Amino acid sequence: MRADTEKILVLHGPNLNFLGKREPDIYGATTLEDINAMLQERAEGLGLELTVIQTNHEGVMIDAIQQAQGQYACIIINPAAFTHYSIAVRDALAAVSVPAIEVHLSNIYRREEFRHHSVVSPIAVGQIAGFGANSYLLALEAAAGLLGADKQ
Ligand code: DQA
Repeated sequence: MRADTEKILVLHGPNLNFLGKREPDIYGATTLEDINAMLQERAEGLGLELTVIQTNHEGVMIDAIQQAQGQYACIIINPAAFTHYSIAVRDALAAVSVPAIEVHLSNIYRREEFRHHSVVSPIAVGQIAGFGANSYLLALEAAAGLLGADKQ
């Protein structure tokens, strides 16, 4: 197995550092630390290595995506508000040959109309939305499936 085969980059976009205290009726009471701990635990069980980055800055997210090239086998990304308008984040994901799985805690299609469109979805392998913190765990399972890590 290549060195990068089991490494996954998890990218959390703007305002997700406020999870737990941010609109809990929509996003739930689980904090980002809780989500990251859940992901790390599950990743260990699957033999996957996670790097987790949260940023409120578009350029930092783009740099992280570019640097994933050749380093990571998969990107799990919740682009948060960037989902709906950042062509730059979308282009960065398209520029690297690392498959991306798009994640949302909320079901963006049940919310305001401006959230119904994702500029990221057309270049993602798939999207998981609406399952709260569990969306991330489902994305990790999907990544394991893509990498064949669930069969080892
Ligand atoms: C979100 C949905 C986005 O519309 C919103 O801007 C977010 C979080 C989600 O996880 O449900 O910040 O990506």
